[in-house]
Amino acid sequence: MGSVALPREEDLPQADSPHLVLAQSTPEEYLQTIRLNSVSWKGPLTLDQYIDREERLSKQNLTKDGALTSWILVDGRQEPNSRLILSSCETYRKPAYLAYQGKVEDIICHGIGSVFARSEFRGRGYAGRMIEELAKKLDTWQSENQPRKQGVFSVLFSDIGKKFYARYGWKPFESSHMSLPPLAEKHFQSSLELAKLPVAKSLTAEDVHESMCSEIVEKKNRNFLHVISQKSPGAKVSIAPDYDHILWHWAREAFYEDSGVLDKVQPQPQVRGAGVDHHHVYCSWTRKIGDSPTSNTLYILRVIYDEPSSPPEELATIEAIAAVLRRAQLEAHRLKMSNVEFWNPSPLVEKAAKLLDPNVQVVHREQSSISSLKWNGASQGLGGDVEWLWNEKYSWC
Ligand SMILES: CC(C)(COP(=O)(O)OP(=O)(O)OC[C@H]1O[C@@H](n2cnc3c(N)ncnc32)[C@H](O)[C@@H]1OP(=O)(O)O)[C@@H](O)C(=O)NCCC(=O)NCCS
Repeated sequence: MGSVALPREEDLPQADSPHLVLAQSTPEEYLQTIRLNSVSWKGPLTLDQYIDREERLSKQNLTKDGALTSWILVDGRQEPNSRLILSSCETYRKPAYLAYQGKVEDIICHGIGSVFARSEFRGRGYAGRMIEELAKKLDTWQSENQPRKQGVFSVLFSDIGKKFYARYGWKPFESSHMSLPPLAEKHFQSSLELAKLPVAKSLTAEDVHESMCSEIVEKKNRNFLHVISQKSPGAKVSIAPDYDHILWHWAREAFYEDSGVLDKVQPQPQVRGAGVDHHHVYCSWTRKIGDSPTSNTLYILRVIYDEPSSPPEELATIEAIAAVLRRAQLEAHRLKMSNVEFWNPSPLVEKAAKLLDPNVQVVHREQSSISSLKWNGASQGLGGDVEWLWNEKYSWC
């Protein structure tokens, strides 16, 4: 494949041509989309490694069994495998929660990623047409066997600012982060003592599963959604913060280890997060390759804690969160990461970070990883407003 001849510019179809359709890629076409978009996203990997990475990621619990769909914009009159790919993207079917007026429902949502148009075809409206078609398609995509036959919401993380996707219904949501520097071993202990912080324990993958994704935690999550949606009007949605999401991020990290781009962690088992049991404060993390080796980041995938019910409890919770963030800083140093980053910090997480560094600021992104959500709830009797809860790094795709 890859041998479809490029037409002369004047022979390219108009973006509003009735012949253009959004089609599912065949396996061969999927491979072609990966080859094409590798120029944007392979980073330090070779083309073959990048193809391997995508293949490995497509076989994770989160993506397998049809959860990942590859889409292409093509002329519907052309034959599969001989179609000229004008633009491409992927969607991930994800488990999600919808809470409205005290009722919590298990639903699916879709995450969109890898939106791409080859450089020769850019600025002709193809990506826009693809996204327009996708918006219609996702209204019912994979919903046949769901209690709700209409998609309730879908998300994407725009790296091209806030305008393009908003045109097609994906509105920008809170897209902020805080970052802390790595912390060397020799400063770690003294900094905990100085700030009178508890010592956070290290979490293995199994610990993360048990303390952050167990049935008990899931029950707590549902209960939280139930209560919050009774207290305030407007629907609340969340991508389910389940273990499959975390495993997907770790599979990505492992690929970079296996290909030698990231140091392999020795000895096993690897530290995957940190926690303070007493306050049920836990976080998990993953390493991510940045644009340059100096911007490799230890991303906190998610932070959880029990909501405190008194001022002393609140202070203790903030201190426990600070302790797990401190532990992440130490891990970042050990793993030669250039910073620790966490998305959309809650007020308590923000206070915890400020306890560690009074000068640390919340950064509001304007261009990259703009969390964007398309809400279809208004036509389903769920009101026009929606709040996206737990919008942390785990939900990125
Ligand atoms: C972004 C991309 C898919 C757009 O494809 P395209 O077919 O040229 O898109 P369209 O012609 O439909 O629309 C182009 C619009 O996107 C905007 N756009 C493209 N790249 C942009 C960028 N880096 N930042 C902000 N806006 C951008 C253009 O300004 C234009 O807006 P306009 O209609 O107001 O002039 C294509 O440039 C691409 O593949 N880029 C590399 C991969 C990438 O960054 N993908 C996006 C991931 S979120």
